[in-house]
Amino acid sequence: MSLVDEIHSLISDVSTKIADSENLDKLEEVRVAVTGKSGSLTGYLRNMGNVRKEERAEVGKLVNSARNEIEAKLAEKREELKAAEMQAKIASSAVDVTLPGRCQHIGHQHLISNIIDECTDIFLGLGYTVKHGREVETDYYNFTALNAPADHPSRSMQDTFYCIDNSGDVANVRGESDVLLRTQTSGVQVHAMEDEELPIYIIAPGKVYRRDVADPSHLPQFHQIEGLVVDKGITFGDLKGTLEYVCKAIFGEERETRFRAHYFPFTEPSCEADVSCGICGGKGCRMCKGTGWLEILGCGMVDPNVLRMSGIDPEVYSGFAFGMGVERIACLKYNVPDLRMLLQGDERFLKQF
Ligand code: DAH
Repeated sequence: MSLVDEIHSLISDVSTKIADSENLDKLEEVRVAVTGKSGSLTGYLRNMGNVRKEERAEVGKLVNSARNEIEAKLAEKREELKAAEMQAKIASSAVDVTLPGRCQHIGHQHLISNIIDECTDIFLGLGYTVKHGREVETDYYNFTALNAPADHPSRSMQDTFYCIDNSGDVANVRGESDVLLRTQTSGVQVHAMEDEELPIYIIAPGKVYRRDVADPSHLPQFHQIEGLVVDKGITFGDLKGTLEYVCKAIFGEERETRFRAHYFPFTEPSCEADVSCGICGGKGCRMCKGTGWLEILGCGMVDPNVLRMSGIDPEVYSGFAFGMGVERIACLKYNVPDLRMLLQGDERFLKQF
């Protein structure tokens, strides 16, 4: 084969190799093998001196044009491969916007806190302020100052968690310490009467504790919202008007309220308030045990003894007080049949609210 034919065959061979290169690395291998330092085409240029004189001009021209042609083909193929690589990169990292999203589960405030907030808002709207008491209280604030005589059943070890006095002193003749977990938020009334300027319009939401075993209608720890008004000329009419308004605000305009005489040591007269049952509309059903009514709070006119013990003259001032169970309100508002469901942390239940 003549030198010229060899070069032509090299061109066609290299052209095929360039066309067949699948990626930039392969293409570079071809380039090095042809136009690199010890590449085949470079070899022809180097050996030009050995070419016969009469062929030299033709061969030289041919090698140069072969180099130009091959370099052009290499450049063209390089661009093509680069574009293809870019396309592949884009395709592999593309976001499929039609895929369904992965939903983040968002938590929210617990139903009990919601009810406390809702009730607080209602009372703030009436001009009340919020006072916070202590969960660890003394016997005086939880019972004595609330007119509960020493032998009142609510003071018994059965109902109250007493703290143990480790000082070695026998705290009192009953073997109980003076310090306890409050059984009711009513003690905040006494703190309010001692600490606040008159008139007083406060509510006190918070946790209370009782020695009860959890069942559908009892919990050893639950929440109450206490209320206290002390002002000149406060009557039972103010109590009824306020609580009727509040009940409708919590449960809905269509709900009726009734007051039944009851006994609490710190109020006289005392009542329990009921709202008409939301399930049967007052006709009687399982939820209201056939009565048409659901008990929601205790209330009454502050006993003059209680005012007096806190240094307020019952001849000048009068007041009313009330206490409602937050868990009970939550259950009655949302027809929850068992108080324990509020505390089990079952998302299927909690996310409804
Ligand atoms: N402290 C009472 C209880 O736990 C509820 C209560 C009743 C609070 C009457 C009051 C009230 O302020 O006037 O059962």
